[in-house]
Amino acid sequence: MHDIHSYGNPEVSRVRHVELDLAVSFSEKKLRGAATLTLDPAGRQLILDTRDLTILRVNGAASGFTVGPRDANLGAPLTIELAPGARSVVVEYETSPQASGLQWLEPSQTAGKRHPFLFSQSQAIHARSWMPIQDSPGVRVTYSARIHAPLPLTPLMSARIVRPGHFHLPQPIPPYLIALAVGDVSFQAISARCGVWAEPSVLAKAAKEFEDMEKMVQAAEGLYGAYPWGRYDLLVLPPSFPFGGMENPCLTFATPTVIAGDKSLVSLVSHELAHSWSGNLVTNSTWRDFWLNEGFTTYFERRIQEALYGRRRSEMELAIEIGELSKEMKDLPPADQKLVVDLAGRDPDEGMTLVPYVKGALMLRMLEEKYGRARFDPWMKAYFAKFAFQSISSEQFLTFLKETFPGEDLSAWLHQPGLPPTAPKVTYDFETKPRREWVTQEWLHWLRAMPESITAAELSALDQQWAFTENGNSEIAAQWLAMAIRAGYSPAWPRLEEFLIGVGRRKFVKPLFEALVKTPDGMARARAIYAKARPGYHPITQTTVDAILK
Ligand code: BES
Ligand code: ZN
Repeated sequence: MHDIHSYGNPEVSRVRHVELDLAVSFSEKKLRGAATLTLDPAGRQLILDTRDLTILRVNGAASGFTVGPRDANLGAPLTIELAPGARSVVVEYETSPQASGLQWLEPSQTAGKRHPFLFSQSQAIHARSWMPIQDSPGVRVTYSARIHAPLPLTPLMSARIVRPGHFHLPQPIPPYLIALAVGDVSFQAISARCGVWAEPSVLAKAAKEFEDMEKMVQAAEGLYGAYPWGRYDLLVLPPSFPFGGMENPCLTFATPTVIAGDKSLVSLVSHELAHSWSGNLVTNSTWRDFWLNEGFTTYFERRIQEALYGRRRSEMELAIEIGELSKEMKDLPPADQKLVVDLAGRDPDEGMTLVPYVKGALMLRMLEEKYGRARFDPWMKAYFAKFAFQSISSEQFLTFLKETFPGEDLSAWLHQPGLPPTAPKVTYDFETKPRREWVTQEWLHWLRAMPESITAAELSALDQQWAFTENGNSEIAAQWLAMAIRAGYSPAWPRLEEFLIGVGRRKFVKPLFEALVKTPDGMARARAIYAKARPGYHPITQTTVDAILK
């Protein structure tokens, strides 16, 4: 299927293998080196995606190369006329300090405060900002890499570690899964194939929080077949990481803000692990069909959580997600409430609403309830086996579904806004546990149920009883601070500033700035805080907040 978010010409010349040899310069905030691209087929011309790369030299070209004009969403095409018979090219290049897919952290932004840190975030179309590549999820590649990092920092990638600094991933993956991190990190094993990487001062707490990783892998394997990537490790990043988690193969990247101390937010690990099948093994071929990645994964996440922690907890988590979806859908244009979305002219990062996640998961749950697990589970297992290491479209999903469930009509789900009347109803009674047993989700639910019109005086009373302003749980803090902004509860302002400067996770930062700019006074404070916070934010978070404060 043609990908509107890539300039690549895989039908003429297709990249099959990428070999990176890159030096990491923290002082220049640059990666510099070479990408050797193996092609099959190799036609007369090769077109690659780039964004803000400086191309120094191309070997394997008949007549040099040209870099086309830069598009704000897509970057710039790199066109190479291939030398006759050439089956590979070597592109020597360097990245820009502003590369959208890299974040260069000062030592002050790390837990240890002594060493800088670098990490990549390639999804959706940011791989092109740190390597020339056909940056479409439909163009799968294997990769190997040699990373030259300054001592004593450790480079890590979404691949097998062959020996320190040398990486190899033999399975073909979409380019958005190529990932790199360099920092002062140590490792703690959880099982023979699972472990946690983190800065030394964070490691013990992180390994405790994520100690169920091996059990999660086993639960997932019990549902949908053997784990296909060898190791499953997790890297805890500094708090500016713009997402909750990212399913980089062999090595999930995660925000430290899910370390709540009581494992209440570990569904994030179940989610990223589930992507090892839905997303990494079977991949959306274009971002139009992003729900194939996230809807399957959110459904699968619930099944892993149910296997580990019981049906009650997984239903609670689903009920919260559905509440969030309904709230978000109220403000979404109808076109963005469809599972199959039209992203023409947009950055695919903008398609990232809860619709593909939760509406997608509910559609699969509807099928599960309609046909029963005895029939539905083997179908999904067969789906992963059938499309393993392929990138597919919603149409291919539908054709395969109808082989087992003929007559099933999902067009309302895929192509109409809102939730169809057949959507499963999920109920969860939040108030049954005594308050001292509440975990994150119960507190969130209780706070969210408070009226919009709640006053500063009422928040003050709540704060005296429960000390929400000082709560160290990131989810609860973000919820509380949003309420404080709305009510004008000024004792929370110092905490708000500290939170917005310390945490760059977009899911938290975005609603807080959106709430702030609604009043003239809030707008002034938003600008003052952002002046201090922006330098520490990831380019993705910067773009989001820039648009709010424009
Ligand atoms: N793959 C996504 C993150 C992502 C999506 C990055 C689109 C860039 C573009 C990841 O699996 C994810 O969904 N993360 C969620 C957490 C999850 C538990 C819902 C997040 O980061 O909030
Ligand atoms: Zn996901």
